[in-house]
Amino acid sequence: MSQIDPHLVDEVARLRRELDDANYRYYILDDPQLTDIDYDKRLRRLQALEADHPELITSDSPTQRIGASPAEGFPEVRHAVPMLSLDNAFDESEIAAFVKRLNERLERSVDDLAFCCEPKLDGLAVSLVYEQGRLVSGATRGDGRTGEGITANLKTLNTIPLRLRGDSVPALIEVRGEVYMSHSGFEALNEAARQDGRKVFANPRNAAAGSLRQLDPRITAQRPLEFCAYQVARIDDTLVADSHSAQMAGLRELGFRTNPELAVVQGTAALLDYCRHLGEKREYLDYDIDGAVIKVDDLRLQRELGFVARAPRWAVAFKFPAQEQTTRLNDVEFQVGRTGAITPVARLDPVNVAGAMVSNATLHNQDEIARLGVMIGDCVVIRRAGDVIPQVVRVLEAQRPADARPIEFPTHCPVCGSEVERTEGEAVVRCPAGLFCAAQRKEAIKHFASRRALDIDGLGIKLIDQLVDREWVKTPADLFHLQAESLIELPRFGRKSADNLIAALEKARHTTLPRFIYALGIREVGEATAANLARHFGTLQALMDADQAVLESVEDVGPVVAAHIHAFFEEGHNRDTVAQLIEAGVVWDEAEVIARPQPLVGQTWVLTGTLENMTRDEGKARLQALGAKVSGSVSKKTAAVVAGPGAGSKLAKAQELGVDVLDEDTFLARLAEWESE
Ligand code: IVH
Repeated sequence: MSQIDPHLVDEVARLRRELDDANYRYYILDDPQLTDIDYDKRLRRLQALEADHPELITSDSPTQRIGASPAEGFPEVRHAVPMLSLDNAFDESEIAAFVKRLNERLERSVDDLAFCCEPKLDGLAVSLVYEQGRLVSGATRGDGRTGEGITANLKTLNTIPLRLRGDSVPALIEVRGEVYMSHSGFEALNEAARQDGRKVFANPRNAAAGSLRQLDPRITAQRPLEFCAYQVARIDDTLVADSHSAQMAGLRELGFRTNPELAVVQGTAALLDYCRHLGEKREYLDYDIDGAVIKVDDLRLQRELGFVARAPRWAVAFKFPAQEQTTRLNDVEFQVGRTGAITPVARLDPVNVAGAMVSNATLHNQDEIARLGVMIGDCVVIRRAGDVIPQVVRVLEAQRPADARPIEFPTHCPVCGSEVERTEGEAVVRCPAGLFCAAQRKEAIKHFASRRALDIDGLGIKLIDQLVDREWVKTPADLFHLQAESLIELPRFGRKSADNLIAALEKARHTTLPRFIYALGIREVGEATAANLARHFGTLQALMDADQAVLESVEDVGPVVAAHIHAFFEEGHNRDTVAQLIEAGVVWDEAEVIARPQPLVGQTWVLTGTLENMTRDEGKARLQALGAKVSGSVSKKTAAVVAGPGAGSKLAKAQELGVDVLDEDTFLARLAEWESE
C-alpha cells in the first residue's frame, strides 16, 4: 500500500469532524451554523478524498449514511437486554393506582418521589449498540428477545450518530429509542406518492415501519425518518448515572436527540399535571404521540422495583384517546381549490377524534377513492393528527350497507361548469378555467390577501365571496380600485368597515418582493421558495425573464417547480395581472432584497466532454446563476472551457486559442467558491 500523505489524513479527519458537528447542530441542537452550500462542499470534498483513497474510509464516516447496496434479508439479532413493553394507564385513577403500588413495593411514602415524564412516541422501538464510540449494530424490537438487524438502514438517519461525541465516550453503550416520522415529513412523502399515483401510507407509524424494513437502504435514506432516544439499556460501569434524567442528559451530550418535552416532576399531582398538559399540547406537536411515559427517575429504585412478566414495575404508559375513529360517510362534495384542483370531501356523521369533532375529511383525489374502495354510506376509519386535515384511512367493508353507492367524480367543474381535465400521469383532476372560474378567483384572492402574502386586514372570506359574486373583483389588482362609496352598498358593511378596508389596502400596497412573489399563488411556490427566488433574482423582472435551467439553479427549486414558475409567467393574463398590480401602486423596497453576487456576468463558458459529478444541465444552470452565458462553441471570447473525459474538438480549439481549460474538480471547487461568496 502506498504511503498516504499525512496532510490528507488530517484533512479527512477535519472534514469528518466539521460534518459531524454541523449535523449535530442541525438535527440535535436545532441551531445550524453551517450553510447547506458549505456542508455540501465539505461532503463532496470528503467523498472525493475517500474515492481516491478507499483505505481511508471508515464505517462511521459521514459519507457512509447515504445507503449501501440492498441486503438479501435481515439477520437475527439477539438483544443482550430484552426489549420490554409498558403497562398502560387509561385514566387518572390508574395513574394513582400505579403510584400506590410503588408506595407498597418500596415500603415508604412516595409523595416526594421524582418521576421522569416524556411523550410516548408512536413509532418503532430500535436498539443501537456502540462500541468504542462507533455504531456497530442497530436492530428492531422483534419479539423483545430477538429482533432484525437493520444497521445499514438506521445509519441513513441523520439523527442517529455514527460515532459518539465528546471526551468521555463509553467503551460500550446500548441506546434505545423510537424511530418515527414527523407529520410534515409524512405529509410530504404521501403527497409525492399521490402525485405519482403510488401507494400512500395510512399513518406516520406505518410509513416509518415500511421505510425501516426496506432491503434497499437507499430507499430508507430518502424517507424522512427521525430517531429520539429514551433509554440506556446497557453501559460500561465506569459511566453509570444515578437517574434516568441524568442518563438522558448524557445521551444528549453524546449526540442523541432526546425529547424536548421531557420533564422531571415530583409527586402524583405534578405527574397528573404533566399528563394533562401534554394531552393539550399533543395537537401542536409535529409528530404522533399516543400517551405519556412515566418512569421512576432514580435508577437505584428502578433496580429495586424490577420487572413483572414483560413490563417494568417502575414505569407506566398513560394512554391518550385514539387518533382514529369510526364513523359513517354520508356524502361526498367536490371543492375547487386555488389551482383548480378538484378535491373530494367526505361529509361524515360528526365524531369526536382525539378531542375534536370531525364532520369532514379529505379524500384527496380519484385515485385515493379507488385505492380506499370507498362508497357513499360506508363505515370508515377517520384519522386526525395535529393540524393535518382529517383523512379517511380505511373502509370497514364488512359493514357496508346494501344501499351503498359509488362515488361519481364530476366531468364538469361544479362551480363554473368547464369540462375538467386530468393530466397524464397526474392524480389530480382540475378545472382548467383559472381566474375565469369563480371558485379559483376567490381562492386566488383569498391567498393574495392572506397574512403571509399581502396581509390585507379585514378582507375575509365572506367579503371576498361577495366581491367576486358581484364581479367587482376579477383579479387581485381590482382590489386596489375598490371605493368606499361602493363598499357601503354591501349588506351589513358600514362606513367604518369600508374606510378601514381602504386603509388596509393602502397599507398593503407597500410590501416586499418575497411576499409579492408568494402572493401571486404560483403552484408549489410557498413562502420559503418565494424567499429563495427573491434572494436569487433580486428583481421581479429577472424572475419573470428566467428560463427553466436558471430557475432550477435556485435553492430548493426542482424541475417541477421551475416548470410551474416558467409556465405562470408565460401566461399573458398573469403578466397582465402583475402589470396591473404595479400600476395600481403596489411597491416593494428593492433594497430589502440582497441580490446574489453574479461574478461571471459578461463571461461565456463552454462545457464539453462528460461530467462525472453533475449533469451538464446542472453545470450550465449553476454557471448561469452566477451570471455567465453558456455557449456550445469555443471562440477567442470564451472565458473558460470545462473539459471532462471524452472532450474532443472543442478542447483542441480552446488549447489552440489559449482559452483557459478546467477539469471537473477545479470547476467544482471554483463553483463552490463563487456560490458561497
Ligand atoms: S421506555 C422498559 N419511553 O413504548 C420499557 N418507551 O410499550 C422501556 N415508547 O416499545 C420503554 N416512547 O417503543 C419508553 N419515551 C418512551 C417511549 C417508549 C415510545 C414505546 C417503545 C416501547 C413501547 C412500550
